[in-house]
Amino acid sequence: MELGTLNQAFQEVEDSKPVEDIPTTTHVQLEEKVADPPANEYTQIKPYAGMPKEVLLLYSSQACYRVPREILFWLIVACTLTLVALTISVVALSPRCLSWWQVSPVYQVYPRSFRDSDGDGVGDIKGIQEMLGHFEYLNIKSVWISPIYRSPMRDLGYDVEDFRAIDPLFGTMQDFDDLLAEMHKLGLKLIMDFIPNHTSDKHRWFNLSRAREPHYEDYYVWADCSATGPKPNNWVSMFGNSSWTYDEVRGQCYLHQFLKKQPDLNFRNPRVRQEMLDIISFWLDKGVDGFRMDSVKHLLEAAHLRDEPQVDPDKPPESVVSEWDLHHDFTTTQLGLHDLLREWRAQMDDFSREPGRYRLMVTESQDGPEVEKTMMYYGTPLTKESDFPFNFYLLDLPQNTSGLWVKHLVNLWMANMPTGRWANWLVGNHNIPRVASRAGQRYMRVINMLLLTLPGTPTTYYGEEIGMENINVTESQIQDPAGRYNASASRDPQRSPMQWSADPNAGFNNKTNMTWLPVHPNYSRVNVEVQKQDEGSVLSQYRLLNTLRQSELPLQRGWFCYIHADRGVFAYLRELDGLDRAFLLVLNFGHESAVTDLSAITELPGRLRVLISTNRANDGKVFSKSLIATEAGEGLMIEFSSRARFNTNHPGMCYVSEKACYLAAMDILYTC
Ligand code: GLC
Repeated sequence: MELGTLNQAFQEVEDSKPVEDIPTTTHVQLEEKVADPPANEYTQIKPYAGMPKEVLLLYSSQACYRVPREILFWLIVACTLTLVALTISVVALSPRCLSWWQVSPVYQVYPRSFRDSDGDGVGDIKGIQEMLGHFEYLNIKSVWISPIYRSPMRDLGYDVEDFRAIDPLFGTMQDFDDLLAEMHKLGLKLIMDFIPNHTSDKHRWFNLSRAREPHYEDYYVWADCSATGPKPNNWVSMFGNSSWTYDEVRGQCYLHQFLKKQPDLNFRNPRVRQEMLDIISFWLDKGVDGFRMDSVKHLLEAAHLRDEPQVDPDKPPESVVSEWDLHHDFTTTQLGLHDLLREWRAQMDDFSREPGRYRLMVTESQDGPEVEKTMMYYGTPLTKESDFPFNFYLLDLPQNTSGLWVKHLVNLWMANMPTGRWANWLVGNHNIPRVASRAGQRYMRVINMLLLTLPGTPTTYYGEEIGMENINVTESQIQDPAGRYNASASRDPQRSPMQWSADPNAGFNNKTNMTWLPVHPNYSRVNVEVQKQDEGSVLSQYRLLNTLRQSELPLQRGWFCYIHADRGVFAYLRELDGLDRAFLLVLNFGHESAVTDLSAITELPGRLRVLISTNRANDGKVFSKSLIATEAGEGLMIEFSSRARFNTNHPGMCYVSEKACYLAAMDILYTC
């Protein structure tokens, strides 16, 4: 139908009706005229509903209405898709926000020795609370507190009698709640020690188990033996001698991988697993921010109980008494261990959903040269376990101070860590002689500079920030059970009271002259108060470096690139794409002064100004990059503009060798 014909048809309809009869819907009228459909409610109300085919065909063939709309439609679709794609790429390529446990170092408080508020000679919870200002001063946000559970203290708290109670020596549950509330108010996170492998022999479960009470019979690892006969096998305890002890009540032997006062729990028993999950929930419900999980590699033992192979097969079996005598094939890292950790992780994740309430899981396992075993504690890309397993490799640093050695130790972690995971560094804890004593006070500053400028979370054992040293402990002063077996194995020397000031007892307490271990005689010189006044002190430098680490993105999350290592110096860069400020670290771990030539690193400007030297006299010095001078034990932090890198045709981020650069906090490992 032509347009003219259509108009004519309308006109005819108009003309044939008296004005008052014309229905409001002209088109219905028209349709009635053409097709004469039965009238119904729908056609009465809807305009156009009954438009004749000719009219519809006419409109549909008019390209001037359809094409622009289609173009508009597809334009909108294309724009929307582009926007979505752009958003996804920006999100995917942006660095992840770092979590609290990545931003701040973890500070380990050994509660017996931190601060004694009531003058009984032993540190306590109120004492920790009194000293929270120290963490603010240091810009530390994460604090791990060694065990404060109720305990007979045979292993100074690592023998737990009640996982849901605070030992009166340290205070009350109310003290703990107050401490936690105050820490949270100050933006501090509290990490608890969690000791799942064993309990104290005073634990209720052990008494029920030795009495073969229903449900509790298999809470521990029991095996047949007699009071005087041979032990079930040749397994030895970490503290020496057989790891089996005969129990008269039950008439069997129980396993203890540590002291005989620390019977091993049986994690093959689902009830024990549930108990542990409940304990984790108990503390997470209270609001604690994470756990350091103790001795995890010992959690399971082979059920067959076969002898472990001797390191020296020719040694008479009766002289196998120390952990070093055996290969621990059946008492460590058994199948099923990682399932346990995943269960705990899942439990912790349930508590991590609330924004800003991420709960940290750190595992303790020293696997020596078997670094791949340690890395397994990170879990897999699909099933996470710890946020990081403690990195014990730098404990070997004092053995052979040289740049090459330190680079080797650092690279042990970096080269083996699963891609995209977060590193961590420590040089001491309550089990290891203090680093200032092992490496020498001269190296304390450069070691702190290393820890605070490597990518990953540093852990600081209390007192390392002021360079505390081991104390001498006479036999009569020994407190550590490990020292009772073998005085040289005592861990007391590294557990002495914190040195706060030059006051009596180093300000550890102010009521009596009693302290559970002697205070180091150097306390009038090596203490927090004195070092606060000295800008060049170990403490002031720690604080400055830690503040820089948290304010300078390249140090926190940037690329980490090796550029040099020799028998004295270890040098590396920290820089982040898109940021002009970058940092060069030149650390001399050797015994002699050195001059380092970095002229091969074309990205570095010719002249380099020292931002911080561990020897303050060298702050601000300007070096030619081919002649960077350092003294033995000196570390230099040099700030430079990384713009040169963008102006050269440098093929990416590799400076020295394959896999020389790592980017913290992203799933990127740069390989040349
Ligand atoms: C862990 C602790 C250590 C303790 C042992 C037994 O290794 O760090 O101090 O003696 O477990 O509980």
